[in-house]
Amino acid sequence: MSEAAAIEVRGLRREFRVRQGMFAAPRHVVAVDDVSFSVPAGSVLGVVGESGCGKSTLARLILGLLEPTAGEVLVDGRRLGGMDRRARARLIQPVFQDPFASLNPKRRIRDIVAMPLIAQGAIGREEIGRRVAEALDRVGLSQDQGARFPAQLSGGQRQRVAIARALVLRPRIVVCDEPTSALDVSVQAQILNLLAELRRELGLTYLFISHNLAVVEHIASEVAVMYLGRIVERGESARLFAAPRHPYTRALLASVLTPEPGLGVPDVGLGDTMPDPANIPPGCRFHPRCPVAVPRCAAETPRPATDEAGLVECHLA
Ligand SMILES: Nc1ncnc2c1ncn2[C@@H]1O[C@H](COP(=O)(O)OP(=O)(O)O)[C@@H](O)[C@H]1O
Ligand code: SF4
Ligand SMILES: [Mg+2]
Repeated sequence: MSEAAAIEVRGLRREFRVRQGMFAAPRHVVAVDDVSFSVPAGSVLGVVGESGCGKSTLARLILGLLEPTAGEVLVDGRRLGGMDRRARARLIQPVFQDPFASLNPKRRIRDIVAMPLIAQGAIGREEIGRRVAEALDRVGLSQDQGARFPAQLSGGQRQRVAIARALVLRPRIVVCDEPTSALDVSVQAQILNLLAELRRELGLTYLFISHNLAVVEHIASEVAVMYLGRIVERGESARLFAAPRHPYTRALLASVLTPEPGLGVPDVGLGDTMPDPANIPPGCRFHPRCPVAVPRCAAETPRPATDEAGLVECHLA
């Protein structure tokens, strides 16, 4: 291998045991099931799939906020497992869906943005002030806005604060987990454009998560489609949109061609049987909802097949 990938995950798996009542048997959830991929430096991997398919679990594993049950994560060629927290923070940062939940309401914007710098220790006050001002400027917030509190800003401005905080340590990699999903449709495009611009200017690598395929179309160089914890298709963005190979990708794509794709969770047109990660169907896990399933699909698990167009996990592809 020449240059190390910005992110590499190998055989990543994460299980949860959930007890819903004192007498209920614990449910065993496999949220991420043997996922492997790599993201070259400077590119954007879009990860899409319905709610509950494991996207946020994958994000938290890559950010080191969750321990894998199996497999490993390498960031910039280094194992995440043994990495010091402060070194990790300088390398990889998150932007989450709900900026209100992730911003301390009692602190001023400039103090919120300064937190990662303060957590590093040994950075002088002047330097902190200078870098906070630079980060606010980058995301299009004024110094005046820096003196306000989160409640005094709009949703879009709060997400700009979260982005400034993610960038203040000048990381190389940003994990964006549904960064525009909590925003009004009109504001979503502004934040998407800002993220795209920052990536170009700063040479960042993104893992960009959305439940909506339309959101990742313009920002992602490559797209991975998740279903019940597995990546069922992956490929270069233009190819995946022009010629989807997995029936689930085709359903997702059809759903975003409906009149108002920016609103809420897209209707994937696959009926009411919502997938349950505590109860994964045998054979192909998509078979109960697959419009083109054949008898073999219920009996035999498809293996991932890789070629120059990417990866697909389907008997018929
Ligand atoms: N901390 C947790 N404890 C128990 N179950 C969890 C936890 N985090 C996620 N899960 C379960 O894992 C599955 C995937 O969740 P998540 O990664 O949040 O999916 P997504 O982000 O795609 O909506 C869901 O069934 C969810 O309930
Ligand atoms: S393996 Fe069968 S059920 Fe699964 S996606 Fe392909 S056709 Fe559908
Ligand atoms: Mg999520």
